[in-house]
Amino acid sequence: MSTTDVRAEVREKYAEAALAVSHGSGSGCGCGCTTDDGSGCCGGEPTSAVTFGEGLYSAGERAELPEAAATASLGCGNPVAVADLREGDTVLDLGSGGGIDVLLSAKRVGPAGTVYGLDMTDEMLALAQRNAREAGATNVRFLKGLIEDVPLPAESVDVVISNCVVNLSPEKPRVLAEITRVLKPGGRVGITDIVAEDRLTPKDRAARGSHVGCIAGALSETEYREGFAAAGLVDVEVERTHAVADGMHGAIVRARKPE
Ligand SMILES: C[S@@+](CC[C@H](N)C(=O)[O-])C[C@H]1O[C@@H](n2cnc3c(N)ncnc32)[C@H](O)[C@@H]1O
Repeated sequence: MSTTDVRAEVREKYAEAALAVSHGSGSGCGCGCTTDDGSGCCGGEPTSAVTFGEGLYSAGERAELPEAAATASLGCGNPVAVADLREGDTVLDLGSGGGIDVLLSAKRVGPAGTVYGLDMTDEMLALAQRNAREAGATNVRFLKGLIEDVPLPAESVDVVISNCVVNLSPEKPRVLAEITRVLKPGGRVGITDIVAEDRLTPKDRAARGSHVGCIAGALSETEYREGFAAAGLVDVEVERTHAVADGMHGAIVRARKPE
């Protein structure tokens, strides 16, 4: 499939997911689907709620949020818990979806900080904006755009977070280069994503789940480390958190831009 086709399929599936939440019919079909019915969506049982979605957040965190923001969670971890956010930080969430990590980050950075949520899907942006209004968040901004071409200036962000989105990109080296570009010197990365054990070939990964289900497009652990190092980041760590399929894991990825 071409880059344009992959992106169109991802956009279509996450638009459906956003509309499902908006209409009160669950979180739709996206990350967490391990089988592909041929249309790029769930053909079998989705993986359990604690390997993807709101079950990965504490009850206290969920209580801080509008119900639709928690229901819309389609991530595979909790990047806010790993990102070491500080008062006054400027934070960028790549692929912000319904806004769960933007809203949690907004509380951590306080009124002196700003959190940008970047997403390419209009329906997700509309849902996130509704959730931000309901939460009364005044230090958040949602941007429409691609994580491969971030609409922010160089060296403008203290922390980049992301939850289960890098695996969906058809152009991962561009995403890692954009993260490096927008980070200030000394800036930090706290991402949660799906990773594959190094033994799995791209074909093996595709046999374990669909691209829109956040499985087939996952980088291996070494590809993540080498990709960030090639983009100019240091102290790159990939830490498995939970298994999602044979040889595939939810993981925390941390890195830092040199001073
Ligand atoms: C799996 S969902 C995760 C949403 C959110 N991070 C969460 O944890 O609930 C993926 C989100 O990333 C967005 N997305 C996927 N690929 C993207 C890209 N290349 N550029 C911008 N947004 C993208 C989708 O529209 C969707 O909202």
